[in-house]
Amino acid sequence: MIREIVVYPDKRLKQVSKPVETFDATLHTLLDDMFETMRAKNGVGLAAIQIGVPLRILIINEPDNEDRQLKEKTLEMINPLLQEQSGSTKFQEGCLSVPGFYEEVDRFASVKVTYRDRYGTPHTIEDNGFLAIAIQHEMDHLDGKVFVEKLSIIKRKKFEKEWKKRLKSS
Ligand code: CO
Repeated sequence: MIREIVVYPDKRLKQVSKPVETFDATLHTLLDDMFETMRAKNGVGLAAIQIGVPLRILIINEPDNEDRQLKEKTLEMINPLLQEQSGSTKFQEGCLSVPGFYEEVDRFASVKVTYRDRYGTPHTIEDNGFLAIAIQHEMDHLDGKVFVEKLSIIKRKKFEKEWKKRLKSS
């Protein structure tokens, strides 16, 4: 089922999400809904809080060379924990909760993260490319942070002004 996306500056996006404790059918339905919603909105990543569910869950699916987002290629991360990080990089990011806005933000160049899959099985992932950026962006959502909060003061002010205008006119 496609769910409604929570749009900035909705206060729900500021919530710190809680760890998942039961890996049951309800969780699987939530993950399936997150995937459907993300794909319907042409996103590459989504955190549960973006559909209003304050649980530490995120999904990432970078379209393949034929621009397909296969469900079985979706990375589902539950209760992710950053174990190691190094280097720094800049990346032009966007977010389904801030539709149509893109800006460069600072991120670690590489990360090592532990997480559980939908069955509760633990995994470790290390990446220094697109995935590393996407994981950091989505993990921020679990702690109530949206990428626009990482902008410089000047860029942030400009964004807030433009965003208010857009919300008014929509
Ligand atoms: Co986002």
